[in-house]
This record gives sequence, structure tokens and C-alpha cells, in this order.
Amino acid sequence: MTIAALVGTQWGDEGKGKITDVLASRADLVVRYQGGNNAGHTVVIGDQQYKLHLVPSGILSKGKICLIGNGVVVDPQVLAREINYLRDLGVDTSNLGVSAQAHLIMPYHKALDGLEEESRSLKIGTTGRGIGPAYVDKYKRLGIRLGDLSSKEHFERALDQVLPYKNRILEKIYGQKVFKKEEIMAEYLDYAELIVPLLTDTSLVIDENRLKGKNILLEGAQGTLLDIDHGTYPYVTSSHPTAGGAAAGAGLGPTRIDEVIGIVKAYTTRVGEGPFPTELKDAAGDLIRERGREYGTTTGRPRRCGWLDAVILRYSARINGLTSFALTLLDVLDSMESVKVCTAYDYRGQRLEHFPTDLDVLKECRPIYREFPGWKKGLSSIREYQQLPGEARAYLEFLEEEMGCPVKIVSVGPRRDQTIILGSVF
Ligand code: GDP
Ligand code: IMO
Ligand code: MG
Repeated sequence: MTIAALVGTQWGDEGKGKITDVLASRADLVVRYQGGNNAGHTVVIGDQQYKLHLVPSGILSKGKICLIGNGVVVDPQVLAREINYLRDLGVDTSNLGVSAQAHLIMPYHKALDGLEEESRSLKIGTTGRGIGPAYVDKYKRLGIRLGDLSSKEHFERALDQVLPYKNRILEKIYGQKVFKKEEIMAEYLDYAELIVPLLTDTSLVIDENRLKGKNILLEGAQGTLLDIDHGTYPYVTSSHPTAGGAAAGAGLGPTRIDEVIGIVKAYTTRVGEGPFPTELKDAAGDLIRERGREYGTTTGRPRRCGWLDAVILRYSARINGLTSFALTLLDVLDSMESVKVCTAYDYRGQRLEHFPTDLDVLKECRPIYREFPGWKKGLSSIREYQQLPGEARAYLEFLEEEMGCPVKIVSVGPRRDQTIILGSVF
């Protein structure tokens, strides 16, 4: 029996969906613990590509229990759409459960996400899905939870608490149209028909399965540098993608988590605004973007690309207490003459070994690189670690040393089978 948390170590899009799918074959339960449909997790099985935003990627493995935990914010329209999308592709969704304590994304959250972003002088570049405003209401104790959909009276009472306040903001501050209570009620009570049967005490289900000795995988969304506390604030998301968030967002004690596996992309990407020390604005960055097809799964935006940053990886190892890592998208670097890794920052002539907590410092950090010879060989058909070219293995072994934990999985292509397993998680 193992409980493992899977976390993004960079700015998201590290290939969490793919690695969740790989690990799900040996898990019994897969649980999303934070974020919402700002996430876009891609899984490729054979020729079929699946894009998931809310439903755990474990849904693509037969018979797994998949749970959306209390820490997630749920747009019921998106959930309904995603369930239908999966069913249309012949995926069984009958083992899906959603926490009654998870908060709903409401129409005014989506409206406010856009309006607040427009009115900011410093843009964050949010996904515009209402994620931030929904978490704000949760913490303001003005949120509406999925459990409130169980009865019309509950839902109406919760909506009466918040809607007049939201409408005042929309009307008086932003000069926008207000939302009509009856329209929201009709729309959301319609979703209730689909959602209420899925409502589950997810924490209890996790614990019952733990006691039965089952393997449980906690699937993170976003990444460590998008964490509300530990990320590059304010250019972050509004939840805790880090391992600490896994315990709270799934509803289990931190002592129950045996393994924390960090997902590391072989280079770095970022969507949205904010400092990015190893960003490449030249042909090498374009090459990575094209080879890695680095365009957002959720918004289609081109992702900013750059070299791998070991300062960030050491920071992620610390913040998450990583016990192992999976390296993904290694094949994207196949044609490079040489591959660079940032090992420290130069800040006004001073060498920094640790990721700075002050964004004004980070903005001025220049990467100090170590250069590795490229392997200049296609990796995507390799399935054994020993068959990787020596140059690629040297790159990996260097990262193990930097992060202080072993690599257990190397991904050499988007497909499920394009994977090298070095060590077991379950
Ligand atoms: P996530 O948000 O962390 O799940 O990552 P995304 O799905 O947003 O982005 C990762 C992208 O890389 C997706 O298009 C995956 O299909 C793709 N991918 C995952 N692993 C690999 C890999 O090892 N090689 C290549 N070439 N693509 C990969
Ligand atoms: P996955 O799970 C990459 C980024 C947005 C923006 C910031 C805040 O696929 O790795 P938000 O809408 O969350 O308030 O936006 O966070 N962001 C992501 N970037 N991958 C994601 O998810 C992201 N989810 C949010 O681009 O910069
Ligand atoms: Mg993604």
C-alpha cells in the first residue's frame, strides 16, 4: 500500500497528466486535490489524445476510482462537458466521485476573473476560468459548495448570501450587467441532476481504501512556482499545488503520504506573465516550442520556453519534500548541439544558490549555466535506461544530484508507452 502525491515542480504543464496515467495502471484510486479547469492535462494512448481539465487522469485506466477532492474548485458546466466528452470516447466514468465540500465556480466568478484582470496595471495572464475569484469567495466564507446543490432551498439560501453583493460589485465598480438569480438557479439546478449523484465524502473513501491497503495517487495541477505561497507571487494561481496542498485538498493527514514524486520537464515553460530567468527569446526557444508543441492545453496560448533551471528544481525538492522525480519531454531536446542547465543566479554580481523569495530580486537574476553536450539522437523509441545515450544519462544523473532524490520515470514521448521506468512508485 502506498499513497503518492504527484506534483509539478516548475510553472505547470510538466506532463503531470501523462505520468499520472502511467502510474494509474498500478493505483486503485486517483484524486485531484486543488485547482480547477485552469489545468489542462494531456494523455495520449495509442493514437488517441485526451485533454482533461477536472477529471483525474486515472479515469483513462479501467476500473480506477477517481475523485475530485475538497480542495478543487468545480465549474459544473465544464465537469458536465468533460464527462460527456469522455463517455463519447467510450471511457467509463461510473467510478467518478466529487467532494461535496469542493467549491463551485459561479458565473460571476468567470465574469470577475476577466474584469479584474483587465483593471490591473500588472497583468497576471490568468486562464480566465474564474479560479481566483472562486477561491477568494471560499476564503471569504461566501462560497457555494457542491453539496449545496443537493436541495433547491440550500442552494437558494447560499446564493441569496452572495449574489446581491456580487451584483453590486459588477454594477457599481465595473458598470456591468447584473446576474439574475432565477437564471443562475435554473442553470445550476440543471447541473445538479448530474452532480448530486456523484457527491462523495472523498476523505472517507480515501481512508477506507488506505485501510484496505490500496494504492492511492494524488494528482496535482499547476506547479510549485504557481503556488499561492511558494510561487512567484503575484504571478501565481490561487491554490496550493505543492505537496502540502495535497493533504489538505484531498482530506488526509500528511503522515499518510509515503512518496512525493516531482514532475520535471527537461526544460522550462511558463504561460502567463511573471519573471522567468532562463527564458529563451531566440531560435533555441522557438525550437523547443515547436518540437514540444508548447501551446496551452486550456487556452491555446504559446508557452514561453527556456532552459532547465536547477535552482528552481532544488527549491521544488525542498518545498515539496520530493522523494523521487519523473523527467518528461526529454526527446524534445534530441536535436540540440548542447543542452544548458542553470545552476545558480547572478544577482548584481552576487552568486545566488537559492531561489529568491523576493520577486524584485528574481526579476534581475541572470542564469549561470552549466552546458552539457547534446545526444543528437532520437530517444522516443528507447524503453530501457541503459539504452539512453551517455550524454542523456549524464544530464539525468546531474539532476538527481541537484535534487537529492532518484529519477524513477523518464518520458521520451507523449504516448503512454513512450516511457522508461527505472523504479517503482507503487
Ligand atoms: P500537464 O498539465 O502537466 O499535464 O502537462 P500538459 O498536458 O499541459 O503538457 C504536456 C504536453 O507534453 C502534452 O501535450 C503531452 O502530451 C506532452 N508530453 C508529455 N510527456 C511527453 C514527452 O515525454 N515527450 C513529448 N514529446 N511530449 C510529451
Ligand atoms: P496545468 O495543471 C500552466 C497559470 C496561468 C496564469 C496563472 C494564474 O495544466 O499544469 P489562474 O487562471 O490559475 O488564476 O491563472 O497560472 N496557470 C497555469 N499554467 N499550467 C497550468 O495548469 C496552469 N493553471 C494556471 O497561465 O499565469
Ligand atoms: Mg497543462
